[in-house]
Amino acid sequence: MEQKREQFSGALGIIAATAGSAVGLGNIWRFPYVTGENGGGAFIIVYLIFVFGIGVPVMLSEMIIGRKAQANAIGSFKKLAPKSSWWIIGLIGVLASFIILAFYSTVAGWTLHYVYSATTQNLLGQDYGTYFINFKDSTAMPAFWHIVFMVLTAAIVIAGVQKGIEKYTKVLMPILFLFMIILAVRAVTLPGASEGVKFLFKPDFSKLDANAILAALGQAFFSLSVGMGTIITYSSYFKKKEKLGGIAVSVAGTDFFIAILAGLMIFPAVFAFGMAPDSGPGLVFMTIPSIFEQMPLGNFFAIIFFLLIVIAALTSSISLLEVVVAYFVEEFKMKRVWATATSAIAITVLGMFCTLSWSTFKAIKIDNIAGNESMFFFDMMDFLASNILLPLGGVLIVIFVGWKLGKARSLNELTNEGLHKSKLYSLVFFIVKYIAPIAIMFVFLKGVNVI
Ligand code: PFF
Repeated sequence: MEQKREQFSGALGIIAATAGSAVGLGNIWRFPYVTGENGGGAFIIVYLIFVFGIGVPVMLSEMIIGRKAQANAIGSFKKLAPKSSWWIIGLIGVLASFIILAFYSTVAGWTLHYVYSATTQNLLGQDYGTYFINFKDSTAMPAFWHIVFMVLTAAIVIAGVQKGIEKYTKVLMPILFLFMIILAVRAVTLPGASEGVKFLFKPDFSKLDANAILAALGQAFFSLSVGMGTIITYSSYFKKKEKLGGIAVSVAGTDFFIAILAGLMIFPAVFAFGMAPDSGPGLVFMTIPSIFEQMPLGNFFAIIFFLLIVIAALTSSISLLEVVVAYFVEEFKMKRVWATATSAIAITVLGMFCTLSWSTFKAIKIDNIAGNESMFFFDMMDFLASNILLPLGGVLIVIFVGWKLGKARSLNELTNEGLHKSKLYSLVFFIVKYIAPIAIMFVFLKGVNVI
């Protein structure tokens, strides 16, 4: 690789881009509905433990790998462990990115449609449950917005790391944050909102079965963008002087906080408007518009809000596509433009099956597993990636760092060659080597009913 690799310009850019990858539909769309399906408060406690106890160590492991090797998700393993099969971990990651982006762009497409319908004054005042289902079950519009979103994602990735990814995330993330606070305040002050706040913060452990616990782990990985080489890829663009520990903790903290904010804006509204918290992937789309209806200038705010979600989705989708593109560019010496175009097209095609899961492809489904509703192609891809590939990738990543790379080399990278020593790092390594692999394996095997 003779050509000079791109880098993020500094700590602020790194945090913006990495938090930009972490914060997205996972927080605003997925967290509320998964929490709703798994009973609320108790699920959130388990989620919190997984984010910091397992997610952060996995994130740090990815940062150690990526920054040390300065290469893409697969190339990094080839560099650090030549002539071995460890690179397969990277391959799982590339595959997971591919699959996640396929269904991610379906949901991002829904969001784009909401921007459009709010702009044309066709959103507020509807029966939102029916509105969403009719839209999701149609074909032309969801397909169209899905494609639009993939084109936007590809366009930013073609522009490259600093001029594309970094520039947008730095400005837009703080605006989203502010907006979410305003909406959460509006939601918790709705009449009848207290039920929702209780649902979020009052734990009911009877709802927590092995499935729910695996769902919490999958959600933690999904939301933090770990277990699939995204952080390996991004941290290969970090400078050697950046402090990895601080970055990981601030990203995880921001990500968790935004998920809770999303919960605070959705659940009070769910209960205030008499909806079911376990309505599934449509939950956010069926509730948020009702909050805007109760606000002055609601339509205007609805446009801006859905636009901001699109942007949050974009700062995540570009990180997913970047995993695939960096791999093709570096390992196959493809031009960035071509690598991006071909992978984006392939993902759009797979994504079309997700987008049209409830119409053209509704025959592809699995009925009634574990008493749940039918799983359509969309749900299958989500389950496969989040609850299987990410935990699998995550466990292999920590095993690689803990057992193959070893303590001396890992801590050397983590402490910037001994510059920022901290006792905490030994604890982190202990978790990476022993606790995280056992915990992930256990939750995974129990969740898929193997033990
Ligand atoms: N973390 C993103 C979100 O919460 O929306 C989704 C995501 C991005 C998952 C990148 C995985 C990933 F590698």
